[in-house]
Parts: sequence; structure tokens; C-alpha cells
Amino acid sequence: MKKITVKNEKETKEIAYHLSLYLKAGDVILLEGDLGMGKTTFTKGLASGLGITRIIKSPTYTIIREYLGGRLPLYHMDVYRIDEEGAEELGLEEYFDGDGVSVIEWASLIESELPEKYISIRFEKFNMDTNMRVLSIEGNTEELEDRLSGFYQQFIKEESND
Ligand SMILES: Nc1ncnc2c1ncn2[C@@H]1O[C@H](COP(=O)(O)OP(=O)(O)O)[C@@H](O)[C@H]1O
Ligand SMILES: [Mg+2]
Repeated sequence: MKKITVKNEKETKEIAYHLSLYLKAGDVILLEGDLGMGKTTFTKGLASGLGITRIIKSPTYTIIREYLGGRLPLYHMDVYRIDEEGAEELGLEEYFDGDGVSVIEWASLIESELPEKYISIRFEKFNMDTNMRVLSIEGNTEELEDRLSGFYQQFIKEESND
């Protein structure tokens, strides 16, 4: 698990922007963390790094929004309002196996529908400072961790085992 501390919204977007440069078709990113921690903000930075110019809106009500026109398509999902049964009906596998990058807010709510390989990012408050966040990042395969090593080298100051 690698940890990155960010000071504000701008830094969250910058981290996401840089991470996006390491992504390829079929990658799935799971975003965990309470409301207002920055999951949608992070996705905006990621989209910008992929060269997507459309405005990213939270898919809380639509569940899935698709953004084409960047280096890779972006499938932005927020599953807060559905359960695993509802998720089953979305046919997420087609997105995961497809030509783009999938980002899922509240992914742990649909655990049975998640793919085998993914990058997970957990957002937590750092302290009482309302804008500081700790992002805990991990790819769950060796291939992902190897691919992200350049990103880690650039941004990781602290590594932890939890
Ligand atoms: N470090 C930070 N990273 C991201 N957003 C931040 C940060 N500090 C403050 N914010 C604010 O917190 C809110 C995060 O909202 P959002 O990205 O929609 O969260 P989530 O999708 O996790 O519910 C925004 O209003 C943003 O301006
Ligand atoms: Mg959100």
C-alpha cells in the first residue's frame, strides 16, 4: 500500500492527472471513501490527464457516465445508490473488458461484481484540516504495481503495510 498526502482539491486533481498517464485499456480503478472525500474530484483530474475535455459530472443518479474523445474512453460509475443485484443488471463486465478505463466510486458496495484486477484508492481525512487527504493506492497484481512504479517514484514519500 502506498500513501500520498494531498493538501487541497488542486493536488488531488494533479495526482489523478499523473496516474492517468500510466493507464491502459481495461484498467479498473476502485475509489473508496466517505462523501466529500474527493472521489469525483479525483476522476476529474484523471479525465483531464486522458485528454477528455467535457465537464465531468457526478454520476450519482445516472450510475454510469461515458466520456469518449480522450486517449482512452472513461467510464465513470457511482454505485452508491444501487445494490449488488442492481449492479448485476448494469453488465459492468463489458465496461471492464472493454477499450477504456473504468472508475467506480463506492466500489465496495458491489463487491461481487468487481473484476479480478484493479487499482484501489482509499480517501481519508488527514487530520482536522478540512482539505488535507491521505490517498492509499494499490494495484492488486504485479503487472499493475510494476506499471505504476514510475508514478509511485514521483509521488510516494511513505510506504506502509496496512
Ligand atoms: N484535498 C481535496 N481533494 C478533493 N476535494 C477536496 C479536497 N479538499 C477539499 N475538497 C472539496 O471536497 C469536495 C469533494 O467532493 P467530491 O469530489 O464530489 O467528493 P466525493 O465524490 O468523494 O463525494 C469538493 O467540494 C472539494 O472542493
Ligand atoms: Mg462523488
